[in-house]
Amino acid sequence: MKLFITGGAGFMGSNFIRFMLEKYPQYEILNFDKLTYAGNLENLRDIEDNPRYHFIQGDIADENAVNTAVAQYKPEVIINYAAETHVDRSIMAPKDFLITDVIGTYALLEAVRAHQVPKFIQISTDEVYGGNQHKSTEETRFDPSSPYSASKAGGDLMVQAYWKTYRTPVMRTHSCNFFGPFQYPEKIIPLFVTNLLEGKKVPLYKGGEHNVREFIYTEDHCRAIDHLLHYGELGEVYNISSGDEIKNIEVTKKILHTLNASEEMIEWVADRPGHDQRYSLDSSKIRELGWEPQWSFDEALLETIRWYQAHEDWWRPLKNGQFLEYYQKQYKKE
Ligand code: NAD
Ligand code: DAU
Repeated sequence: MKLFITGGAGFMGSNFIRFMLEKYPQYEILNFDKLTYAGNLENLRDIEDNPRYHFIQGDIADENAVNTAVAQYKPEVIINYAAETHVDRSIMAPKDFLITDVIGTYALLEAVRAHQVPKFIQISTDEVYGGNQHKSTEETRFDPSSPYSASKAGGDLMVQAYWKTYRTPVMRTHSCNFFGPFQYPEKIIPLFVTNLLEGKKVPLYKGGEHNVREFIYTEDHCRAIDHLLHYGELGEVYNISSGDEIKNIEVTKKILHTLNASEEMIEWVADRPGHDQRYSLDSSKIRELGWEPQWSFDEALLETIRWYQAHEDWWRPLKNGQFLEYYQKQYKKE
């Protein structure tokens, strides 16, 4: 099978490419990635010479570039991992989110239609359902809070519209929070682990005693997308989640404990504007197709912490921007 993966130099895209190349010796993959700050070819160093792996630097919002790549490669499936993904960045500067997450999704859908690609899978987020107190099913109304989740919702609705209007062969997924190796150190788990490894405090947003997230380990998510690729139905929507709901303060304490750091390393900082209190997904639909997660949160967290301890050469160069301190100063001004 010939797969066209967008955003394959990011955290989940690179994990998925590695997973699929290993699992399917006959599959071939084209990675189409703009290489934004979050795209990193170091994530793929071990497979860059694999003859079944190809890379094109390109922007999904550039219709000509997308068209040319799809026309030449003739993929059997396009999986759209590419996105601007960080909520705090979207609060400070929403425009790139609209361009990539909405226009980029549109450009890919147009290419699928023009070149009759047999399958398109959209990777999206639980955040489109808003910060619900109840579990969200695939039928839950969209209610995004941040410019990030509004942009993802816009892209997802465009995917739905192409199914309804043109019968473009699409599938949509909504996933809970990912974590694991190669995650850019701006999301809570890799940021806190690397801060502690550097001897720095961890900035927990006020409200962290109550904020709840549901975390899924990267390998379990790769298996979910692989499962949907082979068993999911076109036109359908699937929630993907672990069931492991945990408060931010508890995640933080587990990381502190594993790294033998005291709770004095917590720095309570100004809250994120529009902060969703809880995300929680009902993922019974994909489980009925035969997928279920294999990792417990505690085992996967330990595996992840050990990976960051062993790969300082990977994350150290990514920690120079001081972006987080900048965002938090901006919040405090408002
Ligand atoms: P990431 O931020 O680590 O990587 C994003 C990748 O997309 C990078 O390689 C970047 O270079 C690329 N990219 C960005 N804009 C592009 C453009 N215009 N054209 C081509 N490539 C572009 O992302 P991630 O955390 O691995 O998330 C992957 C997908 O999963 C995203 O669609 C995200 O919305 C979704 N998602 C993420 C999470 C999470 O917890 N991280 C949870 C649910 C869903
Ligand atoms: O739920 C899926 C989403 O998970 C994805 O769609 C997004 O792309 C991804 O960024 C992630 O969004 P979150 O906002 O949930 O993840 P983040 O790691 O930024 O924050 C998780 C929680 O931790 C949230 O309640 C805010 C809090 N937090 C985060 C950071 C970065 C802190 O308290 N301090 C921090 O420094």
